[in-house]
Amino acid sequence: MTHQPTRRSMMALFGFMLFVAGAAQAEAPPARLANVTILATGGTIAGTGATSTTTVGYTAATVGVQALIKAVPELAKVAHVSGEQVFQIASENMDNEHWLTLAKRVNVLLAQSNVDGIVITHGTDTLEETAYFLDLVVKSRKPVVLVGAMRPSTALSADGPINLYNAVLLAASQEAVGKGVLVAMNDQIQAARDITKTNTSTLDAFRTPELGMLGYIQGSRPFFYRQSTRKHTIDTEFDVSALTALPQVDIVYGYANVGPVALDAFVAAGAKGIIHAGVGDGSLADKVLPALKAARAKGVLIVRASRVGQGILARNGEAKDDELDFVVADTLNAQKARILLMLALTRTGSSKEIQRMFYTY
Ligand code: DGL
Repeated sequence: MTHQPTRRSMMALFGFMLFVAGAAQAEAPPARLANVTILATGGTIAGTGATSTTTVGYTAATVGVQALIKAVPELAKVAHVSGEQVFQIASENMDNEHWLTLAKRVNVLLAQSNVDGIVITHGTDTLEETAYFLDLVVKSRKPVVLVGAMRPSTALSADGPINLYNAVLLAASQEAVGKGVLVAMNDQIQAARDITKTNTSTLDAFRTPELGMLGYIQGSRPFFYRQSTRKHTIDTEFDVSALTALPQVDIVYGYANVGPVALDAFVAAGAKGIIHAGVGDGSLADKVLPALKAARAKGVLIVRASRVGQGILARNGEAKDDELDFVVADTLNAQKARILLMLALTRTGSSKEIQRMFYTY
């Protein structure tokens, strides 16, 4: 004869199951929200215009970090957010001293156990440069995410709030750990080394042409599809903790009819390195080559880059780099090659060692 459970025993079993489920729920601690610090530096994301349709001709760097945070209450759903106003500048005014101050603050914060990630709000004009500088000198695997906006905070459909929300959730994510310094703009995740601003004003200005962005942010989640193969953050040989200045490195631009005047002026002013952003594959005009040779003879480190923006700058291609003792920029654009050369010169004056660095970072 089979035993039929009574109504009472079924109710007892159901009650026990509810108890077990409740106890399990009580034991499982709620997922802790990450602690993300927002370091504000200014830019359009902090900008204001005279009207809601003012998308050019506005004033950058007027809104403080607490107001930026207050404008996006949804941030509290994805992280515990705190804010610091490190600078309040339009980013065309960013300089080496700003970079050293920012990098040192980032490294101090990331060494704290109560900081899980950092977001840096920044003007878009030099955002790619600050991002790459930090990519080379941040000494942590914790996420560091730069974010800006193409429209001021007062504009119709301002992109700053959603860009800031995406940047904070990315900085709070496990997926972003160990990926190097990232940029979150226009729902996309991009790597500091290869991202560049490709348009003066449109929302999709930030691209990683040819080498490709890393992924997307969608539905409050990051989705990575690739990551950089170049060394960054804790895997670099650069340390700015004891630095109070960076070596002077300047950029000369190649174009039809170019002469050596700008190059000679930079060298006379004490440049320790020159990035030559040449036409095509970094070609050197006959009118400029003697001045480059003279600069090298004075100990100035010369890096051949290209004004083109994409592609590999081939060693011994358009110039006899071995014979001239020049370095080539690989795929770095001129403004990023300048950053790597400045940091390289804090470690060595050897052109061979510096060429290794351009093939490593
Ligand atoms: N002055 C520019 C800057 O601060 C405005 C551009 C922007 O932030 O989007 O970079």
